[in-house]
Formats: sequence, structure tokens, C-alpha cells
Amino acid sequence: MSEDRVREVEGSVGSAVDGTGPIVGAGAPDLAGIEQSAARQIAATSTTEALSAVETEVLGKRSPLALAHRRLGDLAPEGRPEVGRVLQEVRDRLRSLVGDRRAVLAAAERVAELTADRLDLTEVVPGATVAPMRRGHLHLVTRTRDELEDVFVGMGFEVAEGPEAETDWYNFEALNIPPAHPARGMWDTFYLKLGEPETALLRTHTSPVQVHLMESAVAQGSLPIHAVMPGRCYRRDTPDARHLPVFHQVEGLVVDRGIGFGDLAGTIETFTTAYFGSDIHSRLRPAYFPFTEPSAEFEITCTICHGAGCRTCTGTGWIELGGCGMVDPSVFDAVGIDATVWSGFAFGFGIDRCAQMRHQIADMRALVENDIRFLNQF
Ligand code: FA5
Repeated sequence: MSEDRVREVEGSVGSAVDGTGPIVGAGAPDLAGIEQSAARQIAATSTTEALSAVETEVLGKRSPLALAHRRLGDLAPEGRPEVGRVLQEVRDRLRSLVGDRRAVLAAAERVAELTADRLDLTEVVPGATVAPMRRGHLHLVTRTRDELEDVFVGMGFEVAEGPEAETDWYNFEALNIPPAHPARGMWDTFYLKLGEPETALLRTHTSPVQVHLMESAVAQGSLPIHAVMPGRCYRRDTPDARHLPVFHQVEGLVVDRGIGFGDLAGTIETFTTAYFGSDIHSRLRPAYFPFTEPSAEFEITCTICHGAGCRTCTGTGWIELGGCGMVDPSVFDAVGIDATVWSGFAFGFGIDRCAQMRHQIADMRALVENDIRFLNQF
């Protein structure tokens, strides 16, 4: 309670008792003194708990006021009503003081409680940082993608991108993989619940971007094409040391006049030595892809044993990185390119596999486990 309020109470007690003969007469209780003392006690409390104790002390059954009330009978009969009236007024004022004080203290306690309970959601307390903050860095796969792009841009390629959610046409049909073709089994697919069943899917490889590029080059009359297309792919592959269900590929496509298999082989060898170093080479082994003819598997010298043969390369000295070949004329047909004028090659290989080979990572799953001790090494 403020000093002003105490003074106000003191003043009112004085005016109630001053000059009233019977009250200040012999045996009359000192109600003004009782009120002043009680008002000071109430004002001095600093908790609601202390206030409750003071309330009992100044207004309870054993309080001076209660005692004065009990002694009313000792007073002269004519003075009793007046003393009784003043006594009740003092009690009412003290009750009101207690009520006001309780409201003030309860509000203060609530604020203190909320402040104490407040969650500290700030991770960095200014001035409390002991060591200088360390900046993170790009994930190894992102850096590998950037480095691969740099190598291909240096070789004269442009960089393009395509959608991760595809239609059956781009992912399969335009690539000479009709419905029920056995090659669809090679890319076990995550289909999307969109439109007719099995018409929309998460792309299983970056090869559909070839189709987008060729279609728009035909529409814009902007052939030839020399492009690489990096991006994320999805397959229902069980994670293991060399496979992830979500992984990355970089696709390459050249469509120009007079392109031959030697251009493909030369491009892949140039890329291999530029990215992995001059002691790592490439070789092409006959393979089958519905959208290239002839097709090949593109292998590089095993970076672990440098060609001597080890467990990682199953003793062959070579590791498969991707597939490649000359663009099949049926793909040119599907996008409206005249195969008698234009020819081309395409390749597609795993970015995660590149990172694994370049940094000799035994298990590809480490790339997605988010173990900061592993990621910090690169
Ligand atoms: C393809 O995906 C063809 N589209 C490649 C191609 C492009 C051929 C252009 C001809 C012309 P394949 O399924 O073999 O082919 O995958 C190519 C590479 O992607 C693999 O060698 C591997 O490096 C990587 N890869 C495939 N599946 C996974 C996977 N689940 N996890 C990590 N990398 C994978």
C-alpha cells in the first residue's frame, strides 16, 4: 500500500474518533491506533501468503478489533452504539485495504511466475558464446554436383533442369520404353495418385529431361543441343552400400550433325580424367538401354585399388558409374527430330556414386544419415 493510502486511512480514523465524547472516554478502545497499526502491517506485506497471516492478525478472532468488539459490553450503555458503529467502519476499511493489497501482490506474483516459467527459445545468448561460431558448408552431394557442372561447363556444355514429378510419356514412352516393356522393371517406380493409374510418377532417372530439351529445341528451332542435366531421382531400391531410394544423376545429351560413338567415348574419358585425376580412366562395355543404340555401361578405374583389383570392385579394377550410348532413332522420332540430319549421344551417371568414388566412401548410406562427424570431413 502506498504511503498516501496509509495517510488517508490514518486521517479517516482520526476524524471518526476525534471529538466524540463517549468513544474517547474512559474504557473506550483506541480504534484509531488499532487501525493505523493494522494499515501499516498490511502495507508492509510483500507476498499474498504474508498478507493472509496479517489478515488473520488484524481482522481475525484474536485481533485487537475482535477484542474491542467483545469489550463493548464494558462501556457505558449510551456510548456503545457509537463505538460499535466506528468499530464496524474500521473493520470495513481494513478489509478493503486487505483486498486492494491482495490484488496488487497477486498480480506481481503472477508476473514473476510467468517470467520464471518462460521458455528460453534463443539458442545463442549474446555475449555468452565461448568459441567463435562456425559456419556450416554445403553437403558433399551438392558440392559434387557443383563440381561436375563446372567440369562439363568447362567442356562447353550448358546446364539444364527438369521436373522431378513426371508423366509416363517423358519417363518411359518417349524413351522407347512402351507399357509392359521389360525395361520398366529396371526402374521400379514410385507412382503418384494423380489422374489415371500409373500415369504420373517420381522420375526414376534424369533421361526424361533429354526429351524435354529436345522437344523445346524442336519447338524453338534451336538445335543443336550440348547440355548436362543434374537432378534428384527416385527408385524403389533398398538402401545398401551403393544404392539409395532417393539419389542423384547427371544426364548428358549432345544432338548435332555428324556425332559418332568416338565423340561419346572421348567426352567420357575427358570428363573422367578432369574430375577424378589423370590416373583414373574410363571404359565402355556393351549394355542395353531402350533409348540408346548402341548402348554401353560406363566404368572408371577403381579409385580404391587404382585398377589392381579389390573387394570394392570385386577384383575387376573397374567401377560402374553410369550408362550411355547413341540416341536411338525412335527417340528422335518421338520428339520430331529428323534422324537423317541429326545424330547424338547421351549418358547418365550417379552423382552420389561419383562422390563415393572420389572420396572412397565405403557405404553410400553415410551420405544421408546426417552424422555431423562424417559430413564435417568433406
Ligand atoms: C540409367 O538410369 C539410364 N538413364 C542412364 C543412361 C542415360 C543410359 C543416357 C543411356 C543414356 P542406370 O539405371 O544404370 O541407368 O543408372 C545409372 C547410374 O545411376 C548407375 O550406374 C548409378 O551410378 C546410379 N544409380 C542408379 N540407381 C541408383 C541408386 N538407387 N542409388 C544410387 N545411385 C544409383
